[in-house]
Amino acid sequence: MNPHAPTAANPLREGLSNRQMPQPCSVVIFGASGDLTFRKLIPALYNLAADADLPAATNIIGFARREKTDESWRAELKETTAKSSRSGLNEQIWQTFGSRVYYHPSEFGQAAGYQSLAQRLDTLDTQSATFGNRLFYLSVSPTDYEGILTQLAAAGLNRPRDGAWTRVIVEKPFGTDLASAYALNEAVGRVFREKDTYRIDHYLGKETAQNIMVLRFANSIFEPLWNHRYIDHVQITAAEPLGVEQRGPYYEKSGALRDMVQNHLLQLLCLTAMEPPTDLGADSIRDEKVKVIRSLRPMTPADVARNVVRGQYAAGAIAGKEVPDYRAEDRVSPQSMTETYAALKVSVDNWRWAGVPFYIRVGKRLAKSGTEIAVQFKNAPSVLFNLPDEPLGPNVLVIRIQPDEGISLRIQCKMPGNAIHIEPVKMDFHYGTSFGKASPEAYERLLLDAMSGDATLFARRDEVEGAWRFIDAIEDAWHQTPNPPPLCTYPSGSWGPKEADDLLELEGRAWRRM
Ligand code: BG6
Repeated sequence: MNPHAPTAANPLREGLSNRQMPQPCSVVIFGASGDLTFRKLIPALYNLAADADLPAATNIIGFARREKTDESWRAELKETTAKSSRSGLNEQIWQTFGSRVYYHPSEFGQAAGYQSLAQRLDTLDTQSATFGNRLFYLSVSPTDYEGILTQLAAAGLNRPRDGAWTRVIVEKPFGTDLASAYALNEAVGRVFREKDTYRIDHYLGKETAQNIMVLRFANSIFEPLWNHRYIDHVQITAAEPLGVEQRGPYYEKSGALRDMVQNHLLQLLCLTAMEPPTDLGADSIRDEKVKVIRSLRPMTPADVARNVVRGQYAAGAIAGKEVPDYRAEDRVSPQSMTETYAALKVSVDNWRWAGVPFYIRVGKRLAKSGTEIAVQFKNAPSVLFNLPDEPLGPNVLVIRIQPDEGISLRIQCKMPGNAIHIEPVKMDFHYGTSFGKASPEAYERLLLDAMSGDATLFARRDEVEGAWRFIDAIEDAWHQTPNPPPLCTYPSGSWGPKEADDLLELEGRAWRRM
């Protein structure tokens, strides 16, 4: 998958993996005191080290405003990594890993902080043979992106030395609409080349999301059926029982559509709907995804009223525990009009998918946690077994992204006995039982790919902007038109507003029960 093959291969890994060990580098994390750093980034780097996937010389430098020392940050990280790491924490591995972790306190806008960072990186290069390779990770509020980029450029940190590389990973949200995403792309583009810019969408790093292409293009039985002749519709669901937690101020401005649909769910849709790429190069794959985004039928305000349902959670119970209204959550406006749920009917106007609706639903405080893609095939002809007065259900291929990662296919079977009774059964594949080992966390794969120069699982500029163009039309219909469609409510612990059920029922369909 890696078109920029790194040079420092570890011969012991040959034959075990299709990836070579990336070159050693210094990873600089802006936003070192942030939640993402503690919960995801450091545990991911630690697990890469524990699995011997991280070059031993890799340095990790945390850059943030708060005053801390290397030692105090290491102590904090050790505690939080022990809680968040998928493999726990091994004292011996941590000793080696932790000794390469450093803290660099500075204001984001302070030039001196970047000059001293440059010196520090030079020293680390000499000590640990990282050869000037640098990966900058922007895990800060988007309002800080531009300032950090400007300072990096002023300190010359964006320019690679001869034979070395510098890359930047930008966390989501990548803009809040097309205009802001465009402006951010311009700002990043002034400092880093597109090929060195890695826009993260952690859904693409999930093992099961990567398996969508393998399922489609490494097997011969699905592709002939994968089109409007055999598929009735596709449902993509991302359900979370969690509420907005401590993220009120961010979520109030975002809502479910911007938070999850613009990025994660449209990416899943692209992987499901795309044509086979010419090869596995990052740009070949991303070219095909962009074509899907360009084929999404843009929505007029009337389409939005017909095809999109927005909802907000009211009080209710999750796993037997009372939970409050969204409007009563921490730092959320009591009059908030922010959606915590969205259901959409999306049309992909191309030859393969003409007339096949893609239904997307996403919500917080729903009954159960689960992300899946359900491909529902057309019914068997109404002769022999699938009779009009006793219709059989359709075949459904379900790709479970999480939890219980796997794939199942629903088929009709004769029940044992002397009469013909037909019942649906499932052919089921579970990652856990088939491979007997836990999937790596999405951030592990993504960090490793960025270090290796493989941008396949990162969003390209045109993908991000195309997705915003589609989403902006819906946001505008909700917030800029005189008679916007209503914001429905749903009790916490339910499956969302009734209006979302109506969206499918009107067309003789129903959401899958998860
Ligand atoms: C994030 C969203 O990108 O994805 C969150 O901002 C959401 O609101 C999260 O909870 C879901 O990710 P995952 O990996 O838990 O499905």
